[in-house]
Amino acid sequence: MIELRKVSLKYGDREILKNISLTIKDNAIKAILGPSGVGKSTILKLMLGLIKPNSGRIFVDGTEITGMTETSLYAIRRKMGMVFQGNALFDSMTISENLGFFLRENMKLPESEISRRVAEQIQFAGLEGYEEQLPESLSGGMRRRVAIGRAMIFKPHMILFDEPTAGLDPVSSKKILSLISSLRNNNNLGAVIVTHIIDDVFNVADSVAVLYKGEIIFDDVTEKLHRATHPFIRSILSDKILEL
Ligand SMILES: Nc1ncnc2c1ncn2[C@@H]1O[C@H](COP(=O)(O)OP(=O)(O)OP(=O)(O)O)[C@@H](O)[C@H]1O
Ligand SMILES: [Mg+2]
Repeated sequence: MIELRKVSLKYGDREILKNISLTIKDNAIKAILGPSGVGKSTILKLMLGLIKPNSGRIFVDGTEITGMTETSLYAIRRKMGMVFQGNALFDSMTISENLGFFLRENMKLPESEISRRVAEQIQFAGLEGYEEQLPESLSGGMRRRVAIGRAMIFKPHMILFDEPTAGLDPVSSKKILSLISSLRNNNNLGAVIVTHIIDDVFNVADSVAVLYKGEIIFDDVTEKLHRATHPFIRSILSDKILEL
């Protein structure tokens, strides 16, 4: 479980997050919906302890991470897989090398275990036959699936997705969203999906928090979003895609 308790964050003089409280439960998919530049990626960075809030507290599985050192944060981050906006794959490594990289570098697992886990993710992500290809030769949807496989390979408890369908065509988006649903249904994983695409929310999220001008203006089960009265939410329900 992840909890943000009254978190505020500034970049320079600009206040990005104002006194935000948010709870992410295990074994559920939570979406954070908001327009471009509102601070969605920033929230994920706070959850991973990559940046510190100006005030407020952040907890992961009941442990406060707000003032933790980098060394202690390492164990916390292992509980959370991260799929970055834009995938962050290594261009000069094959798909198999990309998948196995962190296991090899950080966990020092035996090669036989690395190969076993890589093969498992290749199959899960539907990437059979592409093991020795470079990322550039794959479609956008396939690259996103490699990034998901690379986050999953640690066997995290929770997986954080930054804009999982941005830049993908409708068919690839659907595939990614069903992959995310299958993580929760088959592996009992929790997930956070940060997105500006409202269809992502309706397709996979159990609950949704809407971030607007630094504040959470809605936080409830997805079904209730249709009945929200805030003008910003009313406008995104009719326009579907969020613009600044
Ligand atoms: N390191 C930084 N220093 C200063 N400003 C930053 C920094 N990182 C982000 N910002 C600014 O903070 C705001 C929130 O950024 P963030 O990346 O969290 O937004 P976002 O909601 O993820 O946007 P997008 O939908 O475009 O990915 C933006 O206006 C951005 O320009
Ligand atoms: Mg972002």
